[in-house]
Amino acid sequence: MLEVNKVNVIFNPGTIHEKHALKDIDFVLNDGDFVTIIGSNGAGKSTLFNALSGSVEVSSGMIKNDGQIITYLKDYKRARFIGRLFQDPFQGTAPNLSIIQNLGLAYSRGKKQSLALAISRKDRQYFYDILKRLGLGLEQRMDTPVRLLSGGQRQALTLLMATIVTPSLLLLDEHTAALDPKTSIQIMELTEKIVKENNITTMMITHDIEDAFKYGNKTFVMNNGKIVFVLEGESRKSMKIEDVMKLYSTYNIALSDVNVLKQ
Ligand SMILES: Nc1ncnc2c1ncn2[C@@H]1O[C@H](COP(=O)(O)OP(=O)(O)OP(=O)(O)O)[C@@H](O)[C@H]1O
Ligand SMILES: [Mg+2]
Repeated sequence: MLEVNKVNVIFNPGTIHEKHALKDIDFVLNDGDFVTIIGSNGAGKSTLFNALSGSVEVSSGMIKNDGQIITYLKDYKRARFIGRLFQDPFQGTAPNLSIIQNLGLAYSRGKKQSLALAISRKDRQYFYDILKRLGLGLEQRMDTPVRLLSGGQRQALTLLMATIVTPSLLLLDEHTAALDPKTSIQIMELTEKIVKENNITTMMITHDIEDAFKYGNKTFVMNNGKIVFVLEGESRKSMKIEDVMKLYSTYNIALSDVNVLKQ
């Protein structure tokens, strides 16, 4: 369970560059909840993920994960139980290490680093099996340096790495936005499969309204540092693109960057 209580993030306080990026963010997620987050550029979506993962220090408030208060826990310590993917497929993997070495590192997260690159035959077989399940043929290229993979292949691998030790929270920051439409769908389907199979509490930022309602069980609409709307249950299921437009205009949210052209 993730509890976020009145979290504020203020960048450069007391200066002319002061920016109140998160304002009294308050929500609770139950295990297995899959929240999609939409909102215009600069709404505070990535800052929320930064606060949750510890890469940005909160100015006030509390974050509690599975009963443990993690508000000020260092980011590298949170990385043991929080998985994160970014838009850039080149973030999140070590480019000059092979697929299997990257998986080995992810698998040994939280264990002694010196052991990380020693991969047993048993682990190799395990990695082979999970790569095979991706259906991308990566199991045949286990010793290939990751830099030689395409963006989609890398993102699939990053997803596998983020979930190989089941995280307690998975944060996806527009993780399919840089991929072509076909690969993007492939990665989204893979995401849904992994998340469901392991009942991973997940938050996904997207500018794709269609995806925001297709995946997950809740949607947060963010604007100007706040969660202005939470959609779940029947009201979410019956949500049409016109309703989202209305919601956006009610809250004066810029539509320019929202991908609605597919409709
Ligand atoms: N480290 C920082 N220092 C100062 N200001 C920051 C910092 N990080 C983010 N901001 C500001 O906080 C606000 C929220 O930014 P954030 O990146 O969270 O937006 P976002 O909702 O993820 O937008 P996008 O859809 O463009 O990714 C923006 O005004 C941004 O300029
Ligand atoms: Mg962002």
